[in-house]
Amino acid sequence: MASVRRAVILAAGLGTRMLPATKSIPKEMLPVVDRPIIQYAVEEAVAAGIEHVVIVLSPDRAAIREHFGGGSRIEGIARERGDDALTARVLAPERLATFTFVEQREPLGTGHAVQQAQPYLEGEPFALLFPDDIILGPAPCTAQLAKVYEGCGAASVIAVQQVSREQIPQYGIVDPTGPGNPVRLRGIVEKPPASEAPSDLGVVGRYVLGPSIFEQIEKLEPGAGGELQLTDALGVQIAAGEPVFACRFEGRRYDAGRPAGAIAAAVAAAIDREEIRADLLAHLTALMPTEQ
Ligand code: G1P
Repeated sequence: MASVRRAVILAAGLGTRMLPATKSIPKEMLPVVDRPIIQYAVEEAVAAGIEHVVIVLSPDRAAIREHFGGGSRIEGIARERGDDALTARVLAPERLATFTFVEQREPLGTGHAVQQAQPYLEGEPFALLFPDDIILGPAPCTAQLAKVYEGCGAASVIAVQQVSREQIPQYGIVDPTGPGNPVRLRGIVEKPPASEAPSDLGVVGRYVLGPSIFEQIEKLEPGAGGELQLTDALGVQIAAGEPVFACRFEGRRYDAGRPAGAIAAAVAAAIDREEIRADLLAHLTALMPTEQ
């Protein structure tokens, strides 16, 4: 049985980069091909053997709850019609896992958001996913991290990838102890200026964490942006001598919280789908500038 059986998905962001689409719809519910952004994170967690998903929401985001819950109008219509195939498609999201929803009432940061899930984790290690990051590829990123977690004696693991100098101030940046992969960390800093960054390895929104992280989160003071940052809690863990590893994962990562990233994720995910690929490529080819 997998040792990481629970996942926490943070879905309480404001989605300001995707306004006005996110005025009434949570950014996590915007579609990428034919499923909402958040479903990619759930499917990735499930593919890693996770059975119980805790989703942290802001209070006005009922659509996420409805997506992974039963009793929708379309379910009623599909059942009334006796259309089993349609019913199965409607029920697919809620059948992925067992879901718990918990509210983050104020946007106080990632550390605070994760803390809201603590009562549902029962002291177990957990995967943490930020659904804005869509990661595609044959090996689910969460499964890669869980393997490192098990191989490194239950040390926390953070997914990282190389980022450009210009992008450094948008990311948590790790300070690795060497060139290996996975590599133990000697530090981590949230959104530093490029001139002060300890490396060019940026944190991607995937972690596997042990329950001891909550001891650090409880003691957090506001950090970057005045928020309680998960990165700072990890930094305290590292400073206290606890092993924390970074893993350069295999897979293509898209920032679906930004317009260009969301479109790129949709194109990539659609190209992976055989029934859509040819049609989409024809559209894309028609958009290519023709030689004069
Ligand atoms: C969050 C984390 C940051 C990480 C990033 C990855 O920042 O705080 O450390 O690098 O996600 O997507 P956000 O993008 O939510 O500001």
